[in-house]
Amino acid sequence: MVEPPFDAFAYAHAHRTEIAWLSQNTNHLVPPSVVGPALARAIEERRYEGYPYAPGAPELKRLVLNDLGLGDGSGLLVTAGGTESLYMLARALLAPGDEVVASDPSYLIIHKFVELAGARTRNLEIYQPPFRLTYDRIREAVGPKTRMILLIDPLNPLGSGYPRDEVRAIAELAHDKRIVLLNDVTYRDFADSPTLAQPLAPETTLTVWSVSKNCGLAGLRLGGVAGAPDLLQKVHRYNTNDLGVNVLAQAAATAALSTKREWFPRVLAQTRANQERIRDVVRGVAGASLPVFPSQANMFVIDLAKAEVTPEALQRELLLRHGVFVRAGNYLSPQFGGRFVRLSFSNPPEDIERFARAFPATVDALRGHKASTAPIPSA
Ligand SMILES: Cc1ncc(COP(=O)(O)O)c(C=O)c1O
Repeated sequence: MVEPPFDAFAYAHAHRTEIAWLSQNTNHLVPPSVVGPALARAIEERRYEGYPYAPGAPELKRLVLNDLGLGDGSGLLVTAGGTESLYMLARALLAPGDEVVASDPSYLIIHKFVELAGARTRNLEIYQPPFRLTYDRIREAVGPKTRMILLIDPLNPLGSGYPRDEVRAIAELAHDKRIVLLNDVTYRDFADSPTLAQPLAPETTLTVWSVSKNCGLAGLRLGGVAGAPDLLQKVHRYNTNDLGVNVLAQAAATAALSTKREWFPRVLAQTRANQERIRDVVRGVAGASLPVFPSQANMFVIDLAKAEVTPEALQRELLLRHGVFVRAGNYLSPQFGGRFVRLSFSNPPEDIERFARAFPATVDALRGHKASTAPIPSA
């Protein structure tokens, strides 16, 4: 009998409470008291029985625009995660034959949406310093078929961030060429001084935002896109979630955003301390290194090219033997995915300590091929 391929997510979810989730850049540091009472109230009021106000709760929209530092001139769509907005805008703004300037590594789900629209991404390889796109390279890559530039800032998976001057130059380029700058700012709260492109080029920028990572609400699926009202109107034609976004998610996001200033500094401080701890652990493992440090997001990658272990084997062994879930790079990079694992670190220190114990031992075991002969527990 042929064994089905190992499904890391099925395994991790089956052992959900025993896993250190370092795999999806989620945030496990927001005190439950931030959203718990708001969710409890919404449940008590049985808000889930009725449909939400379809365009999104006005208070939530005001809080999001404030949080992004965007004024009243910006429109805002609230969708089921930033993901739904990314899908909608790709369908709405791209046609067969169009090109999108993007990177490799990248958050490849966006590239998939581009391809579903019949367009293609032109992936500039950025797995070398400065580990991000640059104005010069984008300008060279923009051609007659280019309709969009994808600027994920800070960048998943590398954790690199864009300096203000670079964002400005890229935003102006998009404006001058009349192409859309898709500025995905999902991780901006983890950066030292994030710069949004929209205030620099309001007519041609779309800002994709999310409360999954900053507010620790990934499971509730809420995010959206901001931009000039006429551009957003085009995007909105592709809205399939016509009856609005989950009411409980909106209640939780409203509670989190209205108090974010009070609790986010502690989340950030722990996230920073965690990445330093991980850096020290990686330093002690021959052949492993951090291409980007410090990360401007809540994740980075560990390069393993010289460590004599494959990312897939490391992911599997860390998960099955230590309950530590990191991601092998092939889901984030066609060219370089065989060289790295990505891990995130907005987690309690215990999770990071579990990684600190498991990582050196697992790399050693894999080098000696000891791990591959041992039995694997079933899900
Ligand atoms: C760059 C980027 N954009 C968007 C998303 C999707 O976020 P959401 O949970 O809001 O759909 C992610 C999720 O990991 C991401 O990394």
